[in-house]
Amino acid sequence: MNKDEKKRAVKQESHLKERRGILVLDFGGQYNQLIARRVRENHVYCEIHSYKTDMADIRGMEPIGIILTGGPNSCYEEGAPCVSPELFSLGVPVLGICYGAQLMMHVLGGKVGRAPVREYGRIEVSVSAASPLFADVHEKTICWMSHNDYIEQMAPGFISSACTDNCPVAAAEDPSRSLYAVQFHPEVLHTQEGQTMLKNFVLGICKADGSWKMDAFIQESIEAIRNKVGNGRALCALSGGVDSSVAAVLMARAVGRQVTCVFVDHGLLRKDEADQVEAIFGPTGNFGLTFIRVDARERFFARLKGVTDPEKKREIIGEEFIRVFEEEARKIGQVEALVQGTIYPDVVESGEGGESAVIKSHHNVGALPDHVDFKELIEPLRYLFKDEVREAGLALGIPHDLVFRQPFPGPGLGVRIVGEVTPEKVHIVQEADAIWREELSRGGWDKNVNQYFAALSNMRSVGVMGDERTYDYAVLLRAVKTVDFMTAESADIPWEIIGRATSRIVNEVPCVNRVLYDCTGKPPATIEWE
Ligand code: XMP
Repeated sequence: MNKDEKKRAVKQESHLKERRGILVLDFGGQYNQLIARRVRENHVYCEIHSYKTDMADIRGMEPIGIILTGGPNSCYEEGAPCVSPELFSLGVPVLGICYGAQLMMHVLGGKVGRAPVREYGRIEVSVSAASPLFADVHEKTICWMSHNDYIEQMAPGFISSACTDNCPVAAAEDPSRSLYAVQFHPEVLHTQEGQTMLKNFVLGICKADGSWKMDAFIQESIEAIRNKVGNGRALCALSGGVDSSVAAVLMARAVGRQVTCVFVDHGLLRKDEADQVEAIFGPTGNFGLTFIRVDARERFFARLKGVTDPEKKREIIGEEFIRVFEEEARKIGQVEALVQGTIYPDVVESGEGGESAVIKSHHNVGALPDHVDFKELIEPLRYLFKDEVREAGLALGIPHDLVFRQPFPGPGLGVRIVGEVTPEKVHIVQEADAIWREELSRGGWDKNVNQYFAALSNMRSVGVMGDERTYDYAVLLRAVKTVDFMTAESADIPWEIIGRATSRIVNEVPCVNRVLYDCTGKPPATIEWE
């Protein structure tokens, strides 16, 4: 199999049928993942697929309900994303949200046009208590609107079930065909009773049984992995991060020592981290994995010597990682399956799962080593969101600290050292970072911020220690609050904590005579320092 074939082979799979799930058809709206998350909060499985999915494939998936997402287009314009009218006569309940609602009307013979008044933001909506979609919802309820178009005329058979001051059809339904349309976004938290509405749809209208639970997922995955691996061998790159750890343990549960985990210690990990990973997953740990720790520190440092360009450093680290991994794989010999810790947002954001543009390039999706020969690519977490991965991790008995570990970049401290990376500089960052983390958690701040670490500037300056003049480095402390890591705010850590960390760092860490706190948000800065 070449790289593209390997990727395609996993791409076509759907578990909707056996998991009695909901199909989310994506029209490019910004909240598509949120819809899927909200459905799953009801313990109902769902998958996001492109609106372009063939009708035959949709029938084959046998979803118990379909949700059409929002999207940036006007459904009456030529070339706008569309679906076949057949979608609405499958006998499966459909909920259209925003663009999806307008499209439902448009396709079934209603009229959608430019709204005389554009609605944006929190708007009071009056709903009809008789609608099963609005069971237990207050008659007047605040919903999040964001639309330029509106439903001018409903399709035949529909009745209006909600309105606003400016929008006579804020929701419409034809209960005899189980078709529902809402102009607002029930999936965003600003819609105060949105979760009740989605629950009404999936549990009440689609009659989902709410049985999508982690232990069921684990059991199913174990069987699927056993089928794929058979008597063969599987190879897993373990970084010690949450995703690869959960994937590895799941593999071990399924096929025991048939899976070999390769942990590449590139020397750019946090203080004591490599030993911690080994203690958990190595021979003395209790997961029963075949664990290989590769001490590749020297070769990484050798390749990074003299390199100052941040992109070049990243490239070298990525390349060298694959090379070490391939060498280890060759030593092991024939492996049937390669395991990757890809998770659902990686899949969706890389454009494979739905219609979302590529938001960021992903380190997992597509990052397959070229020369490792294997028949199967196994991505056991491919359909899980991050919090579901964590839940699976806890259910599998992985220590709490590891499961709730803050994100750590693949290139490690390589993106926390400005300029050339040397073993001495890595030592400085590791020590300073350990102190900063310790002081933040002592003050209880580790739970209030989403990412925090120390980095090393490439700046040396004059200082004085005792009676001596020094010429040493400045360490940078960072702590940010963020939801999606695409934007972030610098956290207002109490001065007392910064002060305590500062004095410990200059006293305990060699070659440091200044400590700076980074007050910049993202943008204009990034979270990491490279
Ligand atoms: P920046 O620095 O771009 O980082 O604001 C945003 C988030 O992404 C993490 N990050 C990475 N994670 N491999 C990763 O796995 C990488 O190459 C990488 N670069 C940045 C960073 O830690 C932050 O959470």
